[in-house]
Amino acid sequence: MAAKERQRLDRVLAHMGLGTRKEIRKLIKEKRVQVNGRPAGDPGLHVLPGCDLIEVNGEPLAYRQYIYLMLNKPRGVLSATEDRFAKVVVDLLPPRYRAFHPFPVGRLDKDAEGLLLLTNDGKLAHQLLSPKKHVPKTYYVVVGGMVTENDAEAFRRGVILDDGYRTMPGELKILSPGPEAEVELTIFEGKYHQVKRMFAAVGKKVIYLKRIAIGPLVLDKLLKPGEYRELTEEEIERLRELNPPA
Ligand code: URA
Repeated sequence: MAAKERQRLDRVLAHMGLGTRKEIRKLIKEKRVQVNGRPAGDPGLHVLPGCDLIEVNGEPLAYRQYIYLMLNKPRGVLSATEDRFAKVVVDLLPPRYRAFHPFPVGRLDKDAEGLLLLTNDGKLAHQLLSPKKHVPKTYYVVVGGMVTENDAEAFRRGVILDDGYRTMPGELKILSPGPEAEVELTIFEGKYHQVKRMFAAVGKKVIYLKRIAIGPLVLDKLLKPGEYRELTEEEIERLRELNPPA
């Protein structure tokens, strides 16, 4: 997709993860960057990415403004872009993706695993997180304590959390009953620690929590914890369809 405005060549190359400003200036000085078939001599040259043909070392640059990554967040990593002490999800990405300044869309607890969308598309993120949109989120949960149809009914009606808030109806599917029950819970809002607090409201404790879907986006089973991949065009389109332009 072409950019809307002309931008400095060095900024475009930095955005695409081709190196630091210094490294990029060197690339340009060494005539390894061509614009529309001519060596670019000036890092400040204004170009229209996606429209002007930019080549680096003879390879055309496939410009894009946004990236969309699906990460299987491992336990022990914070859903943040930086932290003074803890490892954060962005640390799991290579420089070529970090160059786009992606951030996590919403949060998963440090001890939770599973689907986290990372993007630099603020508009899409905002819409997915908007409390008005009620985008469903599905979790696979291992629960300490017997989970019964009574709990499913309670979640359907909404349960009262520790701060007095009554949740919206949630859908609970019991996959495997027993003292360590395996369940799937779909909720349509995103209060702080919501899944853990919903189970606490019915006297049970979450032992393991993994998000497996956000709206139409389903965690790719091939991704091990800590692994990521780019979303397909179709997945991006389906997320956008949740929020058609007004
Ligand atoms: N609910 C929780 O309790 N924790 C999460 O990380 C997500 C939903």
